[in-house]
Amino acid sequence: MNSEPQFRENVFLGDLNSLGIAARARYFVSVTSVEALQQALDWASARAVEPLILGGGSNLVFAGDFPGLVIRMAISRRCWERIDGDEATLVLGAGENWHDSVLYAASAGYRGIENLALIPGTVGAAPVQNIGAYGTELRDTLVDVSALDRHNGHEITLTNSLCHFSYRDSVFKHEPGRYVITTVRLRLSRSRPFSLDYRDLAEYFEGQDVHDLTPLDVARGVMSVRRRKLPDPAQLPNAGSFFKNPVVPLETWRTLQKSYPDIAGYPGDDNAKVAAAWLIDQCGWKGYRNGKVGVHNRQALVLVNHSNGSGQDVLALADRIRNDVQARFGIALEMEPGVVGG
Ligand code: EPU
Repeated sequence: MNSEPQFRENVFLGDLNSLGIAARARYFVSVTSVEALQQALDWASARAVEPLILGGGSNLVFAGDFPGLVIRMAISRRCWERIDGDEATLVLGAGENWHDSVLYAASAGYRGIENLALIPGTVGAAPVQNIGAYGTELRDTLVDVSALDRHNGHEITLTNSLCHFSYRDSVFKHEPGRYVITTVRLRLSRSRPFSLDYRDLAEYFEGQDVHDLTPLDVARGVMSVRRRKLPDPAQLPNAGSFFKNPVVPLETWRTLQKSYPDIAGYPGDDNAKVAAAWLIDQCGWKGYRNGKVGVHNRQALVLVNHSNGSGQDVLALADRIRNDVQARFGIALEMEPGVVGG
């Protein structure tokens, strides 16, 4: 396989980030193998420029042009390993499209990731924020990831527990820039029960016999629910949830509930996740538009780029929202996408 990387200069990134921000990369390269990735990283260090690993560009905000080398991950691979009774391991290259991979697994009759249908982005980006939706997280099926460790240049394997997954979080966020994920392995099953308790999904499948459902049916249900509420980045550029759902102690949750009986959230045993969308909605932001950027009119957690908004426009709006939520509820919202460039 010829994977000699082709380096380019002054490359437009507007169609490589789902917020559609018209930033440029000083240097750009697309890599289709681990060897090419290593060469690209060497190229960047020889020129003392910062590398940026780019997957689907669906969870970042370009605050301006990127002054270093953007390395687009295009390592493609899809195969089954260790097929054993009802279970099998799906091996995916980091550059594979996540949603296509979900449909690939579901079409083969394997369960475990069907609730994560239609999440934009690539396979390699999925473990970074431990993608999750409708009661399922990536960590529920992930066996391990292969990654290039930039501390020593070796390709290593990080098992699920070494990834230190939690809600929208992992070791890859705690040690940014250290690991470049190249392969993800998932353990899927033909017989594990579906997870259909999340309200929107339960409503969608109400009255249907769960035993008749295939993983592809569930993936299609998830797609339908998502399409009703979340904007398609191809039609209306966005980066999905712009803030994490804040986690508060149960005591705080109960106090909030007294003041706001209809507050939305997910109380657990020790703490509660407050629905950030509800907090933002209460502050009157849903459907807001300031010309270029705004807040989606069906899900207040999603900031959208209506018309040539810059990263600075998006970040300024995010700041105003965060200040309002802080002032009204005393809760600090944390941004979900990373900020690069500028
Ligand atoms: N709500 C509002 N106003 C809104 C939207 C929602 O008040 O504009 C309230 C409703 O009461 C609703 C509750 O908030 O019941 C929760 O809303 P939703 O079910 O849409 O879920 P979410 O907590 O806002 C999270 C994820 C989504 C994921 C859904 C479904 C985070 C930050 N977001 O949203 O993830 O699709 O659950 O599991 O955890 C993403 O990460 O990009 C993403 C879309």
